[in-house]
Amino acid sequence: MNVLVIGSGAREHALCHSLSLDPEVTGLHCAPGNAGIAEVAELHQVDPLDGKAVAALATELGAELVVVGPEAPLVAGVADAVREAGIPAFGPSGEAAQLEGSKAFAKEVMAAAGVPTARSYVCTTPEEVDEALDAFGAPYVVKDDGLAAGKGVVVTGDLEEAKAHANACDRVVIEEFLDGPEVSLFAITDGETVVPLQPAQDFKRALDGDEGPNTGGMGAYSPLPWAKPDLVEEVMNTVLQPTVDELRRRGTPFSGLLYAGLAITSRGVRVIEFNARFGDPETQVVLARLKTPLAGVLLAAAQGTLADVPDLRWSDDAAVTVVIASHNYPATPRTGDPIEGLDEVAAQDAPSAYVLHAGTKRDGGAIVSAGGRVLSVTARGTDLAQARERAYAAVDRIHLDGSHHRTDIAAKAAAGS
Ligand code: AMP
Ligand code: GLY
Repeated sequence: MNVLVIGSGAREHALCHSLSLDPEVTGLHCAPGNAGIAEVAELHQVDPLDGKAVAALATELGAELVVVGPEAPLVAGVADAVREAGIPAFGPSGEAAQLEGSKAFAKEVMAAAGVPTARSYVCTTPEEVDEALDAFGAPYVVKDDGLAAGKGVVVTGDLEEAKAHANACDRVVIEEFLDGPEVSLFAITDGETVVPLQPAQDFKRALDGDEGPNTGGMGAYSPLPWAKPDLVEEVMNTVLQPTVDELRRRGTPFSGLLYAGLAITSRGVRVIEFNARFGDPETQVVLARLKTPLAGVLLAAAQGTLADVPDLRWSDDAAVTVVIASHNYPATPRTGDPIEGLDEVAAQDAPSAYVLHAGTKRDGGAIVSAGGRVLSVTARGTDLAQARERAYAAVDRIHLDGSHHRTDIAAKAAAGS
C-alpha cells in the first residue's frame, strides 16, 4: 500500500513510524513533514490546508490511502477533496470535523446524543458572558468557540482574567468546572463501527505540578493503571458510539479518529472536548503499544469496512512520551536553535526509547528547532516506571538551548497514586 500522511508534527512522525513498520506499506510519503519524518518517509511540499493541492499530490504519487493528521486541514475539507479525487482518506469530512472546529456544535451533538458533558452557555456579548460566569462561579472555564491549537481555553479562579479572555473572542462557550483526572480515549470509526484504542493521559499545562499556561500537550503515558477496568467499555457505550450514531443520523457521518477528552469526575465520566483527529502527544504512546499493523485499520475506516477488521492487539508494555519545547513556548517560541544528542539516543537507547520530531527542520548538516513543541521523546518499558526512566534518560542526552520539558510526566501513575 502506498500511503501519504499530511502534517508535520510528532503525531505525524508517530503515524509514519508505525506505518513504516507495517509490512503492507510499500511506499510512505509525508507532506510537509519534518526532519525526523524524513528518515522514514519521502517528504513533499504542499500547503496542508489546500485540498486541491493535497488531492493532486496524492494522485501524482499514486497514493492508495491519505491520512490527514491535524485538525485545520480536516476542518478545511481536505479529506473531502481527497475522496473526490477517488482516493480513500482517513479523516472526517469538513462538516463532521466541526465536532472539533466548533465547541458549540459539539455541545449540540452531545445534547442530542445524550452524551454526558459539562453544562454550558454559548455567549456572544459581554452581558451574556457576565451572566454565565456568575451562574457557574469559580473556577471559571472559558473556551473560544473556534480552533485555537489547544490554547483557546482558560481555566481560572480570576474573574477579570475569565472576562478578558471571553471578550477577546467572538463567540465563547462558558461551562461548569469539571473536577477529576483527565483521560484521552481515541476511537477509529468508519461512521458506523467504532473501535476504541487504549486510553492515555496528556499533560496540558506547561510546568511541573500542572502549573503554568495550557499548551498543546507536554507529555503523555499509557496505560492508566489507576483507571477502572471497564472505563473503555463505559465510554464506548455512553460517549463514542452515541456520538458516531448521532452524526450519521444528521447526515454528516464521521469517519476517521474520534478523540474523546474526558474528565473522570465524582459524578461519573464527562466529555471535556471532542477532537476530530489523533491527539498529540497521546498518539505517540498509544501507537507505541499497538501491535496490529496500522495501515489496514486506517484503510478499513476510510473504506467503511471496519466491521471486518479483527480485534486490535496490544502490547502489555507501558509507554511514556516527554515533550521538549522551545524557549518561551507556548507564548512566542524561539526557533532556529540547533538540536544535539539525537545520534546518541539512536545509538544508546533505541529501540526501547526513540525521538519523534515535532517542530524540526534541516539547516545544512544540522537539525534545528522550527516550532514550539520540538521533540517528543518516547519510550516503552515493562511498566510505567521503566518507560519513564528510559524516556528521561534519552531526554537527558538531548541539548536544545533554552528548551524546557516537564519532569513529572507519568510520575504519579508510576508511583501508584
Ligand atoms: P480543551 O481544549 O477543551 O481540551 O481544554 C483544554 C484543557 O482545559 C482541558 O484539557 C482541561 O484541562 C481544561 N478544561 C477544559 N474544560 C474544562 C472544564 N469544564 N473543567 C475543568 N477543566 C477544563
Ligand atoms: N493532546 C491534546 C490534543 O491533541 O488536543
